[in-house]
Amino acid sequence: MQNRIVVWLAMALTVTGEYFKPFNVSYDHRALQIDGQRRMLISAGIHYPRATPQMWPDLIAKSKDGGADVIQTYVFWSGHEPLRQQYNFEGRYDLVKFVKLVGASGLYLHLRIGPYVCAEWNFGGFPVWLRDIPGIVFRTDNEPFKEEMKRFVKKIVDVMREESLFSWQGGPIIMLQIENEYGNIEGSYGQKGKDYVKWAAKMAVGLGAGVPWVMCQQTDAPEYIIDACNGYYCDGFKPNSNKKPVLWTENWDGWYTTWGGRLPHRPVEDLAFAVARFYQRGGSFQNYYMFFGGTNFGRTSGGPNYVTSYDYDAPIDEYGLLSQPKWGHLKELHAAIKLCEPGLVAAESAQYIKLGSMQEAHVYRGGNTSDCSAFLANIDEHKSSTVQFLGQSYTLPPWSVSILPDCKNTVFNTAKVGTQTSIKVVDFEPTSFAKNSGPYHLMIQKKASLISESWMSLKEPIGVWGDDNFTVQGILEHLNVTKDQTDYLWYITRVYVSDEDIAHWKENTVTPLLKIDSMRDVVRIFINGQLIGSARGDWVEVVQKVQLKQGYNDLMLLSQTVGLQNYGAFLEKDGAGFKGNITLTGFKNGDVDLTYSPWTYQVGLKGEFQKLYATDNDESSGWTNLTHDTVPSILSWYKTYFDSPGGKDPVVLDMSSMGKGEAWVNGHHIGRYWTLVAPEDGCQETCDYRGSYNSDKCQTNCGKPTQIWYHVPRSWLHPLDNLLVLFEETGGNPFEITVKTVSVGTVCAHVSEDYYPPVKMWSQMKAVMELQCEDGYIIASIEFASYGTPQGSCQAFSTGNCHAPTSSSILSKACEGKNRCEIQVSNSVFGDPCPWTVKSLAVEARCEPSSSGLSEI
Ligand code: GAL
Repeated sequence: MQNRIVVWLAMALTVTGEYFKPFNVSYDHRALQIDGQRRMLISAGIHYPRATPQMWPDLIAKSKDGGADVIQTYVFWSGHEPLRQQYNFEGRYDLVKFVKLVGASGLYLHLRIGPYVCAEWNFGGFPVWLRDIPGIVFRTDNEPFKEEMKRFVKKIVDVMREESLFSWQGGPIIMLQIENEYGNIEGSYGQKGKDYVKWAAKMAVGLGAGVPWVMCQQTDAPEYIIDACNGYYCDGFKPNSNKKPVLWTENWDGWYTTWGGRLPHRPVEDLAFAVARFYQRGGSFQNYYMFFGGTNFGRTSGGPNYVTSYDYDAPIDEYGLLSQPKWGHLKELHAAIKLCEPGLVAAESAQYIKLGSMQEAHVYRGGNTSDCSAFLANIDEHKSSTVQFLGQSYTLPPWSVSILPDCKNTVFNTAKVGTQTSIKVVDFEPTSFAKNSGPYHLMIQKKASLISESWMSLKEPIGVWGDDNFTVQGILEHLNVTKDQTDYLWYITRVYVSDEDIAHWKENTVTPLLKIDSMRDVVRIFINGQLIGSARGDWVEVVQKVQLKQGYNDLMLLSQTVGLQNYGAFLEKDGAGFKGNITLTGFKNGDVDLTYSPWTYQVGLKGEFQKLYATDNDESSGWTNLTHDTVPSILSWYKTYFDSPGGKDPVVLDMSSMGKGEAWVNGHHIGRYWTLVAPEDGCQETCDYRGSYNSDKCQTNCGKPTQIWYHVPRSWLHPLDNLLVLFEETGGNPFEITVKTVSVGTVCAHVSEDYYPPVKMWSQMKAVMELQCEDGYIIASIEFASYGTPQGSCQAFSTGNCHAPTSSSILSKACEGKNRCEIQVSNSVFGDPCPWTVKSLAVEARCEPSSSGLSEI
């Protein structure tokens, strides 16, 4: 008998999975229904290959702690099927493990299979071999494409089902996605586009996954697929049927970054406003794109020209640290929305009350009189407004929403940020930072550790280096030749210059020009082995002066990709390298058209072919010691060994002394690097959260290199002797490369006595300040504290006319030596330094690693 029970239990576990009691997911016009219950869901976007498996548990835990119910990810086809029908589900592509971790943490999962995903991912997630399938046209009613797409989508659904990861199997997957924003480009495909939408929907549903499917930005999604919204705001969104709930698959809480661009920043007051407005106006599922952005390791970043970091200004930063106040303010918002959930799910729709010309309330009432929740919005971008609501008066800051879970008390206002700000330091020794001032949220400590005093270098040949070079008439499309196995492709041809040409140039003082009709992303131009110019852009014309000698001249073009196009119609036709003609102008007998000349092709770099970056590489020949007086040279390989910084803080390489190239640590490709500088202009002095956000608003980092820090995940490092290999194109000084750690060095908060208490304590109705250092750190000292009328912002606070003299000692006593502390912002704690004045508490505290390594909570 006992044995039978054991067998039965074992069977039940394998059939049902182990994370949840199996449940069904359905929906009505109001919300998704989990096991028959409507839910208001908060989702956190995390792309598993943009982190390491070692980072996943912490990222998921921080999302959950921040109030997420769901994790959302795309599935990255190019990573899972690098060669046709040879699948990879290992390492950063261990999707099953990722989904299981989500389930084990008690969160749900939204799996967006695509398999076109956009995502600033190389080629939008398509494997590059896909473009070589005869007759293929992507994302339309095209048989070869549909066959490949179906095979991959089915593969993913089958793997998930075999692993019992769907909700009805007890797994976390509650929803899927097919295609991605196809509606934006559907018009380019005419009738075939419309047919493709129908096919994709039917194909997906036909796979029997048993949970709802969405299509985003797809107004013609069929009735059995939910069409969802993407954008900075989705509160006005209406799905294409009144039987479908309002879902927001991508709430862009920041934006991506381009080489040579500024850094995007979306203020949390506006983000919280957008989210609150969404639930206020009937939304029921919202996903942050991204909650954690992470890193485009290797050559995975998309294009044109996207940087290695995919930080995205997300609530969890590229390295996995909290970005404050973004994460904390959203946590409060989520807690407030959760308090409203009973009212929100009970009501079929909101009761609308106009409160003023730009003020409105939405009230959600359930059958129970206690189930009443309200959202009061002031969409005026400039002025705050005092409104009357159910007999009480409420003051609403401009561009804000107040949340009243009981239709009476405000527990949260989107524009009032009581959460701490964290200032990160990038340094070698986390303990050694000095107090610094300045407005930067990421401060660079001057004392840096040179990664190594001893470097070796090896020159990459210019032009042909291998037997596999070949010569054909005409200019081949770059990707057709490289198959995207490398960024680099040499195009080499020979030009004859006669005595007459030379005389002609002298007499007429003309310089011949090389003209390339159109190129992307980067080209370096060599004449007779000398670099004479470079160009970059996205299908731009190149005009370059050239100096030629009498006789034969070798023209060599090193064409490069910096992330393949990931957005737009007809991606398979976009290609890379050159388009149109390549001509030399100004010759005696007119222009010389090189377009149909014989060109020799050499794919990639010799060093790539030799795998100079691999830890087991035994290629010792050619490497020479680099001395400090060596002139920086183009196209060079560099290598050294370095020890890993102690502790657990995330590790970065500071590459600001280098030009452009790629870097590997212990054989792991950490990505491309490029020290391109952002424009001087375009960053505002102050960032005003009010009014509609777009990615140009509130940008930072003007006049500085777009990216200088490159994440090296801890799990790729050993304590000692880590191999760092670089390929550098333009020059630079490897001796100045430093290895640093990133940590939160300073935390600040500024909370007014009329702020709402943290939502978890909302019934006490007293404002509270909370301060917290990262795990393993303690508040070492209070650098500033003032209860009264302090001014300024973090690292630039000053006392105002009114100041309680006990402020610092009270804070020191409450916080020093602890990982976190909280203190009421009221006269009862500090005494009243100035009656009849609204007072606030401003504090700046310094975090240091706790000596025990364990922090006191
Ligand atoms: C969306 C797309 C995402 C991502 C985003 C910008 O249009 O669906 O995949 O590319 O834009 O970050």
